[in-house]
Amino acid sequence: MGPIGIFDSGYGGLTVFKEISNLLPQYDYIYLGDNARVPYGTRSYDTVYQYTLECVNHLFDMGCHLVILACNTASAKALRSIQQKDLPQRRDRRNVLGVIRPTTELIDRFTTSKHVGILATSGTVNSQSYVLEILKFFPAISVYQEACPMWVPLVENNEMASAGARYFVKQHIDRLFQQSNAIDAVILACTHYPLLLPLIKEFIPKHVQVISQGNIVAHSLADYLTRHREMESLCTKGGNKQFFTTESIENFNEKAGLFYGSKVEAQHLDLMNKGVSCRKI
Ligand code: DGL
Repeated sequence: MGPIGIFDSGYGGLTVFKEISNLLPQYDYIYLGDNARVPYGTRSYDTVYQYTLECVNHLFDMGCHLVILACNTASAKALRSIQQKDLPQRRDRRNVLGVIRPTTELIDRFTTSKHVGILATSGTVNSQSYVLEILKFFPAISVYQEACPMWVPLVENNEMASAGARYFVKQHIDRLFQQSNAIDAVILACTHYPLLLPLIKEFIPKHVQVISQGNIVAHSLADYLTRHREMESLCTKGGNKQFFTTESIENFNEKAGLFYGSKVEAQHLDLMNKGVSCRKI
């Protein structure tokens, strides 16, 4: 038995973890942010796959049987290979789930015009994962995408209130709606973006529903655990949460609270030496 692992390239997954731990407080969790190598959104398939797999294996080594990729870029570029290539090679029972399927399978609830917008990293947009998944479930829905490469660095650097953030948020929202002004639902398809929500709401037309994934992913996990009792029985229930970062603990502790909503005390995970330490770096 072991905790549930939650993974992101950095802080963004904490917006999902917050909702998961509110809805399912009984389980133990380990959060891992690969802050040393963020952003993933501009990296190649091979790199995102290799980094994600490495982090997932660390979480498995720490005792997790179930890992949630609370990162759209990793879900788009690494999840399928991990599920189809790597997990079948293991003798033990492990699973990895992503955030794209839970969001796309219920998108029809949010749109009446059947025109849906996706705001995401370049990696997620180029993978076409949202377009393909939505089309599979709802062929009548038209999907419009806009890559927002500046948004993750703005959020990671806590520049959400800056003039630069206003400029880039407006720019990408305008570009999305230039593709279709019939869009009535927009998915924030990057787990960092909920931190930009106040600005996004300022520039997006008022009638448009803006969808953050945290709540959706939390309910989808609850449903998964109900349907997969064999996996649920491998998840320890003590209500403990541990946080790991591959970067500096001080930076992580300072910023993570913004995303998670309460104070966080992280430990350092040394990717090179495969070791966990609490040393200050
Ligand atoms: N939070 C990640 C996502 O949901 C991406 C951030 C990054 O570019 O690393 O896509």
